[in-house]
Amino acid sequence: MTLLTTGAETAAALDAADPLASFRDEFHLPAGRDGSPQIYLVGNSLGAVPRAAAGYVNAELERWARLGAAAHFEGELAWLPYHELLTSSLGRLVGGRPSEVVAMNSLTVNLHLLMVSFYDPTPERHKILIEDHAFPSDHFAVESQIRQRGHDPAESLVIARPRSGAEVLRRDDLLGLIAEHGPELALVMLPGVQYYTGQVLPMAEITAAAHEAGARVGFDLAHAVGNIPLALHDWNVDFAAWCSYKYLNGGPGGVGGAFVHERHVGDRSLPKFLGWWGQRPDIRFEMGTVFDPIGSVESWQLSNPPILTMAALRASLDVFDRAGGMEPLRAKSQRQIEYLDMLLAEVIGDRVEIVTPTAPAERGCQYALRVKVPGVDGRAVHQALEEADVVCDWRYPDVIRAAPVPLYNSFTDIHRFIGTLDRVLDELSG
Ligand SMILES: Cc1ncc(COP(=O)(O)O)c(C=O)c1O
Repeated sequence: MTLLTTGAETAAALDAADPLASFRDEFHLPAGRDGSPQIYLVGNSLGAVPRAAAGYVNAELERWARLGAAAHFEGELAWLPYHELLTSSLGRLVGGRPSEVVAMNSLTVNLHLLMVSFYDPTPERHKILIEDHAFPSDHFAVESQIRQRGHDPAESLVIARPRSGAEVLRRDDLLGLIAEHGPELALVMLPGVQYYTGQVLPMAEITAAAHEAGARVGFDLAHAVGNIPLALHDWNVDFAAWCSYKYLNGGPGGVGGAFVHERHVGDRSLPKFLGWWGQRPDIRFEMGTVFDPIGSVESWQLSNPPILTMAALRASLDVFDRAGGMEPLRAKSQRQIEYLDMLLAEVIGDRVEIVTPTAPAERGCQYALRVKVPGVDGRAVHQALEEADVVCDWRYPDVIRAAPVPLYNSFTDIHRFIGTLDRVLDELSG
């Protein structure tokens, strides 16, 4: 590997040696004030548009114009089974088998549907473990599920917190909490990657500990899918849900995804909210009212799916497949992390604190950075970066998130980000 130095020539050499560099050209990156692409570091919020997406979406608009309702049934892209076109690529990204993975609904909706099935409280076992800094939608969803099932969040919600003065959760504390509440614990619902700090949680160990305690486990993979390799089937995870508009580049409000482990998919005793799209497709249009579920996670589907957003997502999944999936992307991401860590240490120093854990296994591509220059407000730094066309995001109360995404961010982007941050910090403190 190139010896890392702070000069622009190192970034150029790293880009030249990057076997995935050409994938950047497959995305539109928003233009900055001078017309050249912004340093776009918010793929953790809204991924970039694959250039091919318009073609995929237009193909469906064209089929709609040409065939009308018949497009549901005709040709290789028939809308009736259209979601199946996404299954194998999604399965590779999350480590799920075809019967375990489906593109449907949106993230919070899927969390609710899956909790209906996997949160089955009894008077003895009614608690759900979440984390202190859970994404608000997850917190609301869990609280409302607890109430819906006749329990009280004050008694049934177990909250995992970092130790006093710490930012991130400790593995031992999480596993300890699971063991401590074991006999009363019904469900562990945690993120794969924490949205604020970027911490990767030890999903396999959490799953094993929860199962040992007699509880079920679900993960919110909003910040994990397309960011880090996942092996949901092998880890024995009960269920998971994700959105597609972040690292999967599926577009705003794009279709979400769900995983249910194979050992549950055919279990007719699980409580489930039903809709006609969960009905076996060969009998669905007989319009009977006796539910006969598809023998896979597809039985959790409710409605006929949003074809246009699925078409956009197919364009991006195709890029993931051609890039070779998560392993090469993660390898590049780890080189980018090493490079960005070096620049932060050498150029920025203690003017910024890295909130994200530093151990490779505990981080994906997202950095959470906190400005530590006395008298300099982090929001002003964020604002100045934006004005310089370096796009990060601000997360209340005091963190700048920046995510170099290996599919389309270059080492030169990272170099420019740090150069701009250095200048902005100098200007605001001087
Ligand atoms: C971690 C996490 N969970 C849940 C959500 C909510 O997603 P949706 O609006 O697709 O339901 C988000 C959205 O950004 C998120 O980041």
